[in-house]
Amino acid sequence: MPMEKIVVGRGREDLEKYRDQGTVYIGKHIVGEGEESHLTNPVYMDVVRPHVVLISGKRGSGKSYSSCVIAEEMTRLPKEIRNNLSVLMIDTMGIFWSMKNPNEEQRELLKQWNLKPEGIDIRLFVPKGFAKKYEEVGIAVDQVFTISCSDLTSMDWIITFGFSPMDVHGITIEGVMKTVKKKYKEGYAIADIVKEIEAYGKCDEKVKNALVTRFLAAEGWGVFEKKGTAVNKFFQKGKVSVLDVSHYVRTSTGWGVRSMLVGLLARKIFQERLMARKAEEFEVMGGEAKETIPMVWMIFDEAHQFIPDTGETAAKEPLLTLIKEGREPGISLIMITQRPNKLHPDALAQSDLVISHRLTSEADLKALRSIMQSYVLKDIQELINTLPRQKGSAIILDDNSERIYTVQVKPRLSWHAGGSPVAIKKKGLFEE
Ligand SMILES: Nc1ncnc2c1ncn2[C@@H]1O[C@H](COP(=O)(O)OP(=O)(O)OP(=O)(O)O)[C@@H](O)[C@H]1O
Ligand SMILES: [Mg+2]
Repeated sequence: MPMEKIVVGRGREDLEKYRDQGTVYIGKHIVGEGEESHLTNPVYMDVVRPHVVLISGKRGSGKSYSSCVIAEEMTRLPKEIRNNLSVLMIDTMGIFWSMKNPNEEQRELLKQWNLKPEGIDIRLFVPKGFAKKYEEVGIAVDQVFTISCSDLTSMDWIITFGFSPMDVHGITIEGVMKTVKKKYKEGYAIADIVKEIEAYGKCDEKVKNALVTRFLAAEGWGVFEKKGTAVNKFFQKGKVSVLDVSHYVRTSTGWGVRSMLVGLLARKIFQERLMARKAEEFEVMGGEAKETIPMVWMIFDEAHQFIPDTGETAAKEPLLTLIKEGREPGISLIMITQRPNKLHPDALAQSDLVISHRLTSEADLKALRSIMQSYVLKDIQELINTLPRQKGSAIILDDNSERIYTVQVKPRLSWHAGGSPVAIKKKGLFEE
């Protein structure tokens, strides 16, 4: 007889109503400690309700791998459920393209789990200016993407360039962008912004030059255009879209650009889903069905870089909005970090599901303790210490059922590029 399933991320009411429908297989329950331990009941995770999931753990403990397990399992849900969902993976390492290939490397391990290697049908998006690099190394790009300059606010540029809204550079950008937005109603490119900076009367040449240099550098990021990719392209029914932003770490403003892109997407997702929600409700009330984007799962690594405890990034506010207000419009987030302690406290506090692999830093353990003290009787560190030394072992703190589990995350069906220096460079394609 098959063992009873454990479902995480689902409260009692939903569990009674839906049982295990709309859940994905993520691993097996670990019983016993350390070397004595063995695997028992299969563990499933709810993906049909909005969640804020935090995946933590130290380097090489299995965080990226676990996030891929969730994403790939979502593509294997029954069609009628899958088609209400879409997954967007922000790829900061340039490693997720490999999901298209079967996980031959762990064929033996998969066999022990009665599974077989299998490639996943993901869509790989890369910034237009970098598409050639992919071609050169023989990776198939499904679509290049660009961003409409007019979707960015003055503040996005100010933060990304490392200025403050109070300094002369910030004030000038604000002034110039006002003119630009008024003058170019049909949209504008970076060249138009540069033209307006040069024509701007109210500041000295040195400031102008500094700004022109910055905007011209931004042109080199190969992603800004007068008319960018429509946002609904990233969100296709039952599909995983991978957005590779790994290139930007090579520039001095690398993290800034990533944050700008992620922040912009977060804002767009929020707007689109608010509209979609209205359309869905209208349809439920008997109105005509309208084409909208499905519910969104957004997955991003290095979450503490986008939503840091201290300091501003262009992604911080938009992501915090999704974290705090994303439930109603049906937006879920999976935040991955080595350093939960460095993540903004609101992001921690709103996490309703924590998957933590091995973690040793006292400060980071403290951060986890702060999220779910109420029902965790045992100390988190003690629990983590009971985990077998296997990669992918984790504790799961589930605020929905107010329970805690020790789990071995299942092997992936698709190829994991992150930790296989044999297949490609350790940190992915473009990182140094
Ligand atoms: N559930 C698992 N089953 C089998 N092997 C795993 C599992 N999780 C991780 N591994 C192995 O561990 C390696 C490292 O995992 P992963 O790349 O996810 O680490 P990480 O926590 O994301 O590290 P970093 O912080 O450096 O990004 C993988 O390449 C894989 O071989
Ligand atoms: Mg990783």
